[in-house]
Amino acid sequence: MTDILEPTTASVEDMTTEAVRALSLAQKAALGGGASFWQTKEVSDIPSAVLTDGPHGVRFQSGASDHLGISGSDPATCFPPAVGLAQSWDPELGSRVGAALADEAQSAGVGVLLGPGINIKRDPRCGRNFEYFSEDPLLTGVLGAAWVRGLQSGGVGASLKHFAANNTEHDRMRSSSEIDARPLREIYLRAFERVVRDARPWTVMCSYNRINGVLASQNHWLLTDVLRDEWGFEGAVVSDWGAVADRVAAVAAGLDLQMPGDTSVDDDAVVTAVENGMLDPSAVDRAARAVARTALLARNGRRNVTYDVEAHHALAREVAGRSIVLLKNDNDLLPLTPSGSIAVLGSFATEPRFQGGGSSHVNPTRIDSPLEEIRSAAPTARIVHAKGFTTDGFGPTEILHTEAVQAAAGTDVAILFLGLAANQESEGFDRDHIELPVEQVSLLEAVVAVQPNTVVVLSSGGVLRLSPVHAAAPAILNGALLGQAAGGAIADVLFGAINPSGRLAETIPLRLQDAPSFPHFPGEHSRVRYGEGIFVGYRGYDVRDQEVLYPFGHGLSYTSFAYEALTLTADGPDLVACVTVRNTGTREGREIVQLYASMPGSVISRAPRELVGFGTINLAPGKSAEVRIRIERRDLAYWHDQLERWVVEGGDYRITAGASSRDPRLEQTLSIEGNSIQLPFDLESTIGELMAHPAAAEALGATFAPVMPTLQGGDDLGMDMAKMMASLPIGRALKNFGGGSPEALQHLQELLDHINAQALQE
Ligand code: BGC
Repeated sequence: MTDILEPTTASVEDMTTEAVRALSLAQKAALGGGASFWQTKEVSDIPSAVLTDGPHGVRFQSGASDHLGISGSDPATCFPPAVGLAQSWDPELGSRVGAALADEAQSAGVGVLLGPGINIKRDPRCGRNFEYFSEDPLLTGVLGAAWVRGLQSGGVGASLKHFAANNTEHDRMRSSSEIDARPLREIYLRAFERVVRDARPWTVMCSYNRINGVLASQNHWLLTDVLRDEWGFEGAVVSDWGAVADRVAAVAAGLDLQMPGDTSVDDDAVVTAVENGMLDPSAVDRAARAVARTALLARNGRRNVTYDVEAHHALAREVAGRSIVLLKNDNDLLPLTPSGSIAVLGSFATEPRFQGGGSSHVNPTRIDSPLEEIRSAAPTARIVHAKGFTTDGFGPTEILHTEAVQAAAGTDVAILFLGLAANQESEGFDRDHIELPVEQVSLLEAVVAVQPNTVVVLSSGGVLRLSPVHAAAPAILNGALLGQAAGGAIADVLFGAINPSGRLAETIPLRLQDAPSFPHFPGEHSRVRYGEGIFVGYRGYDVRDQEVLYPFGHGLSYTSFAYEALTLTADGPDLVACVTVRNTGTREGREIVQLYASMPGSVISRAPRELVGFGTINLAPGKSAEVRIRIERRDLAYWHDQLERWVVEGGDYRITAGASSRDPRLEQTLSIEGNSIQLPFDLESTIGELMAHPAAAEALGATFAPVMPTLQGGDDLGMDMAKMMASLPIGRALKNFGGGSPEALQHLQELLDHINAQALQE
């Protein structure tokens, strides 16, 4: 990697202005539609740019093109998809992957890589969860921003996708995600906001779906009011491939580039709409400018790079090793001794499942076989292999089953690879259950019956119901999807060359029915009601105090850690937490310290705890050190749906430092000053609201006491009566119970106006 490219360098901005100024309306309109499947148009001085999938590898198609991963693509490193990478909880690693991807993109002449995908994993069944990071917006946003920074530092633009609320594959091109304001802002848009503000992606890709009835590609509120006006986005909004239904409406709403090409009919429609006065020419200017800027940024960022295939494979292995989660390790069965006899079982031992299907499907430069990697990590051990099952469930299943059980019985330890086959989860459809294939579960039970030292290694892009695995197996490694170097990384962890430090980025529930979104997924008649509101993922399991199999943030290590001290201090608007951690075990290891915030006295509906920061530390045995983690004020805020802005509620916040969302170790409480949230009073304001406001209480008490002696809560009233009175809207109370004449109501209105005006001046 060489030059760092600053995306808003004055020269590119000036060049863009200059280049667009010289264009005719037709040329500007033409810029807003692709030239081909993966390219923008070259118009006058503005070069064409190449956009390509993404995200966990460069799917550059020098031959036939498609957006579903059907035709082939040129070889590229298949890094761990987001589901794996997220389990590292390591933004620095994400950034290094981004930078390596930039080199590979550069070597293929790609200017924009279509990723990262940062949609929230709302439901375990979503077919594309493997491409997304987490059920939590903070973890998603921090990792997504790091990845974008890494990529763009190599002169290649990111395309933050799929904007927004694309949390199901079912009916994805029509379905409307029906979401209230709080969950939309706090859960589904929050990571997008963070990445846009912090990492300034060159482009954002709008999703296929509707949001509250309006197609994302034609959603002015989303693409203009929120993305540009609120968050300050300066880049280009690109459509998902085929997402545009009406280009004119889309351009008016804030879309800049319709993909894929050829779009000449729609280019002409834009020209006609401007000429007929149906489309503001400034929208066409904006779109042309955005596309030109992207192409010029890409040209400016061009570097002559040939990347080192072996070095990238090594990075893929390092990331995979850091992304494996040790779910369970009874009696320290792991790490294994690389000697004696070992049965390596399951088809995935030789045909690893390491990436998902669809547009992100990469043609890997090479694939590590877990079986071969185990052989080379344990060269003196006697290793036997049996397939145990076929991934499609067909074939000589009984024979395979028997062979595997016999192999397990005749060895010291068994490693059993289980998981989902590529055709069981992919872009384009959702799963309708989260079960492992039955033949795999029955094989596990039979293997454990003859071989108590059985380690299960799991591969899948989406969450599985693991209760049967947990009940049977003494040790479990969750590999999710780990990219092309999965085999080597798994061997590293099995034999202790790597001490596992990955953490779950999503909850593993006891059963699918427990998932907060369960009854609302995938919706019907092209509508998905996000009925669980803000209670997504661990927020939902926690608010109902529901048992889960493995909580969000869970992951074990071959060593142990003690949390010795937690201090919290204010630093400007933010907080800084310092957590002292000691390695109390016998191996070097890495701990991921997680900070959760709670507000027990909150006046709003909240999750019992929310992730507000995390940090990592690597410690030698016996050593301790301090991890400093910043908690940003914005991450304590909730979306006030009446004021339509972020608000930090004033009061005592409890900050917990823990090893998972359900493993709190230390806590501190700190009082935080809130934002003022005084709404303007009107006749529908309740007596309680008014009485809680000193100036209003004073003014109203004096004026209305004669007509409404009970207005102030009344000393002679019982508490219950006072509470009942407090909930009455003052206008109706005065009219219906206080004998208020129209003049009295008028007078009340004037008084409220006066109080509001005074509040504004304060
Ligand atoms: C996917 C996008 C992808 C695009 C181009 C679409 O089907 O939703 O994520 O970038 O195709 O392949």
